[in-house]
Amino acid sequence: MPASSPPTTYEEAVKRVWRSLDPSGGVREIVRAGTLGANSHNTQPWRFTVSDQRIGIAPDFSRRCPAVDPDDHHLFASLGCAVENMVQAAVALGFKAEASLEAADRDRVTIAVDRIRPSSNALAEAITKRQCTRAEYDGRAVSAEDLNKIGVAGTLDGVECLLVTERARMDAILDYVMQGNSVQMHDQAFMAELVAWIRFNDSMAVEHLDGLSARSSGNPSLPGWIARRLLPFVMTAKGENDKYARQIRSSAGIAVFAAATDDKRGWISAGRAYQRFALQATALGIRQAFLNQPVEVPSLRPQMASFLGIGNRRPDLIIRFGHGTPLPPSLRRPIEAVIDPS
Ligand SMILES: Cc1cc2nc3c(=O)[nH]c(=O)nc-3n(C[C@H](O)[C@H](O)[C@H](O)COP(=O)(O)O)c2cc1C
Repeated sequence: MPASSPPTTYEEAVKRVWRSLDPSGGVREIVRAGTLGANSHNTQPWRFTVSDQRIGIAPDFSRRCPAVDPDDHHLFASLGCAVENMVQAAVALGFKAEASLEAADRDRVTIAVDRIRPSSNALAEAITKRQCTRAEYDGRAVSAEDLNKIGVAGTLDGVECLLVTERARMDAILDYVMQGNSVQMHDQAFMAELVAWIRFNDSMAVEHLDGLSARSSGNPSLPGWIARRLLPFVMTAKGENDKYARQIRSSAGIAVFAAATDDKRGWISAGRAYQRFALQATALGIRQAFLNQPVEVPSLRPQMASFLGIGNRRPDLIIRFGHGTPLPPSLRRPIEAVIDPS
């Protein structure tokens, strides 16, 4: 059980957040698994309700990101990531779990849980080990067998997981990533919103327990006021584009997720499919990280769709994958901060 006083160091916070799942924790431990899902800018845009037979997960619109995500696509995909973690964790924690969207026009996902014997599985074990690794990888290919496994894991509920491993096609996607990044970095609202979620040093990260910590982004820890002044000089469109080129060229491949429908249901499913892909990748020792610029800049989305040959479906999420060493993990708020009183 976590100590009740807040963590004082990054290392202590990491230990608490990413500790193994504990079957004695019951339904609330399923919620904790949910909070370990990937989520846009690590805003953790969710609220939970918990009873013995039911967990509800709903959006926390106070944590939306209107600049990068004006239609809440990423917010609902983030809910999907949490849902998939909860469904996978439930089995290992001794529950049968079934997720359903309450109604087509409602925002809440309900997970009905029923006691069964716990059974360990590789995806549940990967929940506390998964991370988005925003580093260069080592250039090694992923075997055909493992490609098949991650592709199958990422295919869920009408979501297609397209795997791109040919260098020429990866370079074409890199080109879209750089175009998207250049647009975003010249967009003041996008940059202001991003900076508001950056935790420039350990004490900021530990104080907030959310956002993009310097450590987990592979950046040095700096006092906030210095970092904010330096940012325009060190974080330039060209510098970031060069970084993305190195990152993609050191990766084994790129996965693009496209849901059957461009609505909340489809966005949640895309998040679930990504999370299951990421858990399977983690179980196989494969690292992954998002590069969503071409799906975030609306004018690039149809170009990406036509390049990928997915007709008029929306390309939802773009991920690179490969082999490499992990970075320090990101942090999460404790479940007490995200569960509504019943
Ligand atoms: C819908 C969605 C969109 C995301 N977009 C990006 C992105 O464009 N670039 C990026 O570096 N990370 C992106 N992320 C990853 C989050 O920043 C990451 O999940 C969060 O910081 C928590 O870190 P963790 O996944 O390593 O635990 C995205 C995650 C989700 C679910």
